[in-house]
Amino acid sequence: MSILITGGTGFIGSHTIVELLAAGRELVVVDNFCNSKPCVLDRIEQITGKRVKFYEVDLLDYDGLEKVFQENEIDSCIHFAGLKAVGESCAQPLRYYHNNLTGTFNLCALLSKYGAKRIVFSSSATVYGNPASVPIREDFPLSTTNPYGETKLMIERILKDIYEADHEWSVSILRYFNPIGAHSSGLIGEDPQGIPNNLLPYITQVASGKREFLSVFGNDYNTHDGTGVRDYIHVVDLARAHLKAIELAETVTGVDYFNIGTGTGYSVLDIVNAYEKATGKKIPYKITPRRPGDIDMCYADPTKAYEKLGWRAQYGIEEMCRDANNWQMKNPNGYDS
Ligand code: NAD
Ligand code: UD1
Repeated sequence: MSILITGGTGFIGSHTIVELLAAGRELVVVDNFCNSKPCVLDRIEQITGKRVKFYEVDLLDYDGLEKVFQENEIDSCIHFAGLKAVGESCAQPLRYYHNNLTGTFNLCALLSKYGAKRIVFSSSATVYGNPASVPIREDFPLSTTNPYGETKLMIERILKDIYEADHEWSVSILRYFNPIGAHSSGLIGEDPQGIPNNLLPYITQVASGKREFLSVFGNDYNTHDGTGVRDYIHVVDLARAHLKAIELAETVTGVDYFNIGTGTGYSVLDIVNAYEKATGKKIPYKITPRRPGDIDMCYADPTKAYEKLGWRAQYGIEEMCRDANNWQMKNPNGYDS
């Protein structure tokens, strides 16, 4: 029996595949390469010595996706496939709703039809909106501020309704905090297109000389040094949480929600310092105005993931910076290098 991995050639999917293969799991991977490259499959093979079974399929193509179910014995799914850029989602809401929601409808219809009613879904800390306090627990109120976040929250609710209607389902919703870093080999990592939106990919490009300086978006937040605080998590730790979640899904039915973070918040300037310490590279920065929509602080209470999944993060911030830097230096232009 195989686990279907949607969006498997993306940043988090590729790292998760490496961990699942190491655990001896059988996989079938689908992606339409709208935000990833075919060579990721070669890189995964270089790391693991295994070639994963892969289909280039768009989740919006129901018939194409059904062929994958007809040709394989799938009994569960880890669903990464989705569009994820917040700013782009505000500019192209229909594209985001169509891709993320319709893709999930097709997937769930087929998981149901083929009796594979186990799903681990990639949600995000964005569903907590601007939390009233930190650390954030899974039972905090939910809200969103942009179409990307809406798709995550809607899918969470849709999956819950699917379970309410059919108690054979097992649904694990993983709410990721801020995934960064890369596999220690430097063979796979995050490959943003154009100017990076997120902090770490921007810093790695400053470190490699591709960009002159980091713009620190605001230093008047209500935090220890005035810059925004987030819960950064090593992508390999995050990947391992999926193995635990799928193992749990194989033994229980129901719907459950897990924060996947370290539980520690770091400010933008903490990250600059940690990066400089881990790599010996200077990161020049300038304080610039706040980015609209940003919040002061966001970090997890990850206790539930430890208690119910037996998972907790192993890597610290300097290891995250070291591995992000290693990936960038080995692949200055991402997978096109
Ligand atoms: P990514 O863009 O690197 O990977 C997503 C993959 O899905 C890409 O390879 C893309 O080509 C594929 N895809 C998108 N739409 C598809 C479709 N219709 N059919 C087939 N394939 C499709 O993103 P990631 O960082 O690996 O994120 C994976 C998931 O985790 C996403 O759902 C994202 O929203 C969620 N998430 C990411 C973060 C983060 O900071 N990276 C944080 C929280 C949640
Ligand atoms: C991003 C996503 C959010 C998602 C979260 C976790 C955006 C707008 N939001 O938010 O939906 O849930 O990741 O994956 O992409 N910063 C700078 N300079 C930069 C870039 C960022 O100072 O060039 C600051 C930000 O103001 C913030 C921190 O760095 O305080 C982290 O930013 P980022 O990496 O974009 O993550 P989130 O803001 O958490």
